[in-house]
Amino acid sequence: MTPIYQTSTFVQESPGKHKGYEYARTHNPTRTALQKALAALENGKHGICYASGLAATDAVLKLYRPGDEIIATNDIYGGTYRIMKRIYEPFGLVFHFVDMSDITNIKNVISDKTKLIWIETPTNPLLRIIDIEAITDLCKITGIHCAVDNTFASPYLQNPLDLGADIVMHSVTKYLGGHSDTVMGALITSDDELAKQLAFIQNASGAVPGPQDCFLVLRGIKTLHVRMQRHCENAMKVALWLENHPKVAKVYYPGLKSHNGHELASRQMKDFGGMLAFELKGDVYDEAVTMMENLEIFSLGESLGGVESLCTHPASMTHASIPKEERAKVGLKDTLIRLSVGIEDVEDLILDLEQAIG
Ligand SMILES: Cc1ncc(COP(=O)(O)O)c(C=O)c1O
Repeated sequence: MTPIYQTSTFVQESPGKHKGYEYARTHNPTRTALQKALAALENGKHGICYASGLAATDAVLKLYRPGDEIIATNDIYGGTYRIMKRIYEPFGLVFHFVDMSDITNIKNVISDKTKLIWIETPTNPLLRIIDIEAITDLCKITGIHCAVDNTFASPYLQNPLDLGADIVMHSVTKYLGGHSDTVMGALITSDDELAKQLAFIQNASGAVPGPQDCFLVLRGIKTLHVRMQRHCENAMKVALWLENHPKVAKVYYPGLKSHNGHELASRQMKDFGGMLAFELKGDVYDEAVTMMENLEIFSLGESLGGVESLCTHPASMTHASIPKEERAKVGLKDTLIRLSVGIEDVEDLILDLEQAIG
């Protein structure tokens, strides 16, 4: 097993003469092993790890300068929206949040100032599917970088670099870690120049993960494929069950034929993932809250991608940092319930939902 190099520094033989490691912010052998493994999982050349998914996103945004324009998915993780709007917009970056399910929405805002297109697919929390290849084709013609937040799919289900993306971003906290015990982020790229800049930012800004966390993720990814298979299997069964429930108004799961991104997801992803969302009929806030409080096997909390099932209320938790009017514009209702379907016995999960919905 990869040792946990629990050290901040490395002894040097003579000033400047060392064995490749000087100081643990810059490099750590446990982190190096993980970075290589993550690069391999995404079919990329370089992996660069950060202290969280948002620190990884932060590193990408630091590549740009005031006046540069970035086009991002409108249905997006709340923290990604927050770092763009509240940290980088005041520094002069210009953001356009558009519905990327229709590529003309991107073409309408693209200009010679556009430097990056930031895709999240499947989106959080509405599980919309965006055509990565159609957008990377557009980026290639115009010389724009394309980054894909691949957190919801995991590298097991989708590999954006193979579809032409320049950078893949992961909240490693989720499926890669897989056990809800680590917060970490990663970027993967095959572009040597981008990798150099991102590794420079990793060291210069210093948001690095510790070796113990790198060890935990190395252990987590050994079972990624097996976990993902069960996540997908369970989520499909839960989605079908919910779709047929008389009290459920709408289920958002790309594996369902009723999902308008189903066909694209079938082409772009190996399977449909472990995330889904739904709304109860009547759209009554208190009823949605009671349902979430009633759950016993699904824990109520933020995050996703762990082996245990989680239920999240996006409006008050993961997406509370997006103003209500903006949430409404993308169709994110205050009554939406998001599930991260775990790898437990699916019959237990369905029984839990049954008693909670009542
Ligand atoms: C899709 C997505 N991207 C990015 C992040 C941010 O990652 P982290 O919480 O590891 O900073 C999250 C966290 O929930 C997420 O769901």
